[in-house]
This record gives sequence, structure tokens and C-alpha cells, in this order.
Amino acid sequence: MRKTTIGFLGCGNVGGGVFALLEGTAGQIAHRDGIEFVLKRALVRDINKARSVPIPARLLTDRPEDVLDDPQIDIVLEFLGGEQPAIDFMLRALRNGKTVVTANKVALALGWHLLQAEAQKYGGGLYYEASVCGAIPVIRALTDSLQANRIDAVMGIINGTTNYILTRMAKEGKDYAQVLFDAQRLGLAEPDPSADVDGYDAAYKLSILASLAFHAHVPVGRIYREGIGSISARDIAYGKEMGLTLKLLAVAKRNNSVVEVRVHPTFVPNEHPLASVSGAFNAVFLKGHAFGEMMFYGQGAGDAPTASAVVSDLIMAAAAPRHWHPTFANQEQASPELGFDTNWASVYFIRLSASDKPGVLSAITGCFGAHEVSIASMVQHSGIDNDRVPLVFVTHRAHEQSVMQALKDMKPEDATVESVIRVEGR
Ligand code: HSE
Repeated sequence: MRKTTIGFLGCGNVGGGVFALLEGTAGQIAHRDGIEFVLKRALVRDINKARSVPIPARLLTDRPEDVLDDPQIDIVLEFLGGEQPAIDFMLRALRNGKTVVTANKVALALGWHLLQAEAQKYGGGLYYEASVCGAIPVIRALTDSLQANRIDAVMGIINGTTNYILTRMAKEGKDYAQVLFDAQRLGLAEPDPSADVDGYDAAYKLSILASLAFHAHVPVGRIYREGIGSISARDIAYGKEMGLTLKLLAVAKRNNSVVEVRVHPTFVPNEHPLASVSGAFNAVFLKGHAFGEMMFYGQGAGDAPTASAVVSDLIMAAAAPRHWHPTFANQEQASPELGFDTNWASVYFIRLSASDKPGVLSAITGCFGAHEVSIASMVQHSGIDNDRVPLVFVTHRAHEQSVMQALKDMKPEDATVESVIRVEGR
């Protein structure tokens, strides 16, 4: 039996979940992997705070050095969340020759280049399956199982909070603010929901997924980001009539060395596998030149699902004869060989509020035509707002800039733009 000594940085929900899972599976891990994990210290902010997990009080410390500088600790598990002090603590652990397992997408996305360099220099490992989509083994899939492929597209529902909100808006016909308020009341959305609803959480995760998929660093700052705050129940209802389901989608596509990376509300056709992912579940849909299409589905957050990924990393790290590191030049900026396309081609759902007068429709379609934007379908709904009527267009594939220019050219007395939502998966 090999004994591996570990230390925790943080012991809140995720740390507690990992402690409980390690306790519950110790026999199985010993039998199957021949490893006994011994938790030596857990760094916490307040050692006197009551904890839901029965972690022995003697293991708790509020001194980072008790975990980071203890030569007996082989592997440090980081659950602090956020950028700092998590990055500095992980760097210090790596410099002390330890291996790090982290569930922290922000620290990894922003400090990956620094952490990777120290891991390589000092011979430690850096494991982060839990940083993206909780229990779903998508990191391992990209780094190991799908290595024979050129990955051409990653499309994911990688934020559970927004998927929960959008699912309820669609089912109940309620507005965003109403559902968000209810989700906060139920503890399913944070009191400050910005990280989730404005797409930051998904952008951090997409930066990690796209970098691994394309073997080149895709910094979070290069990802186009739009949240769900301006989505109305009306958009969702009109989309439904047209066979479309709304999701906050993280999209990364590659065309040779040119990539497009974006997080925004997106309609997907009802028959697309991503359309049926509802509630707080996550899913990642991949396209690869050899495997074709594949989708991962599961719980992207929560104590036990996240602990499932952390403990799996821990076992892998403890058993690894040699640690694996990404092959791409892991630097702060984007890999120089990558080009970033922001004038992507997509299908667009466009809702206008139009004047109900002769000739207006022809003026509107004239603007689309002048910019090579071709209309695939159009629905006019009965008048609601004074003399204005809602008009919904779905385009054929068109370029972003052409669509935006066409909309800019429309005269406000003819039509005003209520919403523009991209459509993927057609
Ligand atoms: N807040 C995230 C979500 C989970 O709603 O999916 C942690 O990344």
C-alpha cells in the first residue's frame, strides 16, 4: 500500500465534498489503486467555524505555510476559488515540489501559463478536471481519449445557473428578472449573479476547453461574451414557435489556424442534442475529424459531482509515473499561430418592432439584401405595441458584421431592433 499525504487549501463545500468522498471510498481506492490518502492539514479562514463535514479539528489550520511548506505533503488540493491568493498559493506549492489538483477555473484560466511553467520546472503535476463542468470528464477526454483527432468545434452548456434560469423561463413563460429572483431565493443563483448570468463563468471554462481542443492558448480576454440579462420571455416563446430552444452557449470553432470563441445566448434547433439539456445540467458537444460528433452530459456543479472529478484527479496524480502537461506554448497571450475571427458566420434570429404600414417590410428586407443577408423565414405577430408589430426573422448563414450593418441601416420609423440572437447547430 502506498501512502500519499495530502493537504487542502480551503474546506468549504467542495473541500467538504472531497473529504466525505475520500472517507467513503478509502477502502475501494486502497483495494483498486493500492493508495492510501492521508489528509494532513486543511487551510481554512476560521478554524472555529461549524462545518457540515466532520473533519477533525486538529487538521484545520489558518496558516497557509502549514500546507504549502510541509515537506510531508505530496499533493495540494486547491478549493479557494478566485484568482488570488489561489494562484500564488499553488505556485508556492509547485515550487516546493508538490503536485496540485485544482477545481478553480478562474485561477487556471488566468494563471495557467505561470502554474504550468512551475509544474514543469519543479517536476510536479497540475490537474484540473474539476475546473470545467464539475463531474463531466471532458478535460480528460480532450487530453487523452480524443488525442487522435483534430477538434473542429466545441459547443457547450457549461453554466448550470443560466441553464436553470432559461429552462424555467421557457417552461413557465416568465421573465428573466422574475426567475432570477426566484433562483436566488432558492439558493440556486448567487446573491450577486453576475459571474453566471453575464457569461464570465462560461468564458473562463471555454478558455480552458478551447485551449485544450486547439492545442494553443486561447486567453479568456479573447472570448466574445454576452450574458442572458436582456433575454425576454417573448424571444423564447417566438423561438419555440420556430422550433428553437434558447441556451447560453459557449462556442469554439476552428478553421485551420483561425478560431472563433464566444459565449452568448444562442438558439439551437429542438432536434439538436443540446436542446434537451435542461435545468442545471451541463453538456459539451464536440466535433472531431475522426470521431465525428460526441456529447458529454452531466452535473457541472455541486459538492459531490465536483468531488468526483477532484478525487479522480487525485488518484491519477498519485499513480502517475510521469505527469502530463499540455504541449502548446503556454503563455499569457494567445498562441501566435492563432488567428481570431470576430466576423463569424452564423444563422441569426432577429426580432424587430416594425411600423405596420405599406412598404415597411420591403424597406426592411431591402436593408438585409443590401448586405447579402438572406432571409430563411419570417413570422409577423399580431400588433401588440400601439401601431407597431413584432416581426421575427431567421436568416440563412450570414456574417456578423453584415447583419449588424443591415440592422444599423434600418430607419427607426420603419423598425427598431428588439433582439438579435445567434442560432447554432443548423
Ligand atoms: N456557477 C457555476 C454554474 C458552477 O452555475 O454552473 C461553478 O462553475
